Amino acid sequence: MPNLPSEIGHVEDAEVARLVQSSVRLIVELQDKSGAYPASPTFSAYRGYCWFRDGAFIADGVSSAGEVESANRFFDWCSGVLEARADVVSRIVTAEANGNPVPDRDMLPTRFTLAGGDGDDDWWDFQLDGYGTWLWAVTEHSRRHKVSLDRWRYAIELTVDYLASSWSRPCFDWWEENPGEVHVSTLGCIAAGMNAISDTGILGEKRAALAKATALSASQFVLDRGLTNGHLAKWVGSEDVDASLLAAVYPLQAVEPTSAIGLSTIEEIDRQLNVGGGVHRYLADTFFGGGQWPLLSCMLGLAFEAAGFHDRALEQLNWAGATVNDNGWMPEQVPGHLLDASRRQEWIDRWGPVANPLLWTHAMYVRLAVELGLAGEDAP
Ligand code: BGC
Repeated sequence: MPNLPSEIGHVEDAEVARLVQSSVRLIVELQDKSGAYPASPTFSAYRGYCWFRDGAFIADGVSSAGEVESANRFFDWCSGVLEARADVVSRIVTAEANGNPVPDRDMLPTRFTLAGGDGDDDWWDFQLDGYGTWLWAVTEHSRRHKVSLDRWRYAIELTVDYLASSWSRPCFDWWEENPGEVHVSTLGCIAAGMNAISDTGILGEKRAALAKATALSASQFVLDRGLTNGHLAKWVGSEDVDASLLAAVYPLQAVEPTSAIGLSTIEEIDRQLNVGGGVHRYLADTFFGGGQWPLLSCMLGLAFEAAGFHDRALEQLNWAGATVNDNGWMPEQVPGHLLDASRRQEWIDRWGPVANPLLWTHAMYVRLAVELGLAGEDAP
């Protein structure tokens, strides 16, 4: 296991609690009246859109800090999006059952306008992970705060049917790349979501069994085909790692953090992708030059904590906290250590400066601080 000495300066607990509070405030203030969380309010390519992936983690983060109503409203938004597309889901499920699956372009998008529409801009749209993650997040929220799942039942049913029919299809990954592959972190999100929801009692017997069976199939598929050198692989057949795999370990726990696979996944990502606390997405990343993502630093922190490496988790929190700017905003990535500096400018020319604030970053900071008991007195 990782045994780097802890060189990080001491960050006052009160400072952490202040950043938690301002992060929660920022997220709640920027939440749209529809319930959608904008990924980043100002960044040219994300403005006006909400992702199921980002949103589910954001809702989980603020829920962990006690913001019950904000998370409820996000899940209401998810429900609205899904219910409005019940016919699309039914078409996809029927086509799959008839052995004639719909093309990728007819699958559900990965992001929607804040009002819940499809949006007009081209995007790398077909991604399955967010649908699993929302099922997981809504279940966690319901357990954590004893909120009934009733109002989201229909949308949950639609999601179960959608994922049960299509879970093993290749799709874009978390980073909206590599559409021809089956991504292990995507399978982790699906397995976690389907497993979580199957145990809640919100589904009828038949659908609960379908959700459970899908979770088991996806998990078994990962064990059979999603490993390399004893740890989770970036995609089926890849020998690389990707920091998105951390979420499958914790908080989603598709893989037990203290299992051999969990520990060696954490260790490999730490070894390959963590530079002084800042975590890269994957080694070949060139997006904005391939910088370090504070939200992934927090995910590594969460995995460290779950695996029993408390000091390492604290280091991760402190590194992420240091990326905050004078406005109190935390970015998508920072350029202190770039994997390919020659590729940075082209993205700035194309889309402008890196997204800042990125709400998902703030949410992961909150989630890790809560897990470490550093969120301040008001948090549960
Ligand atoms: C990332 C996605 C993310 C989106 C919005 C993209 O650059 O690759 O993972 O969902 O930004 O934050």
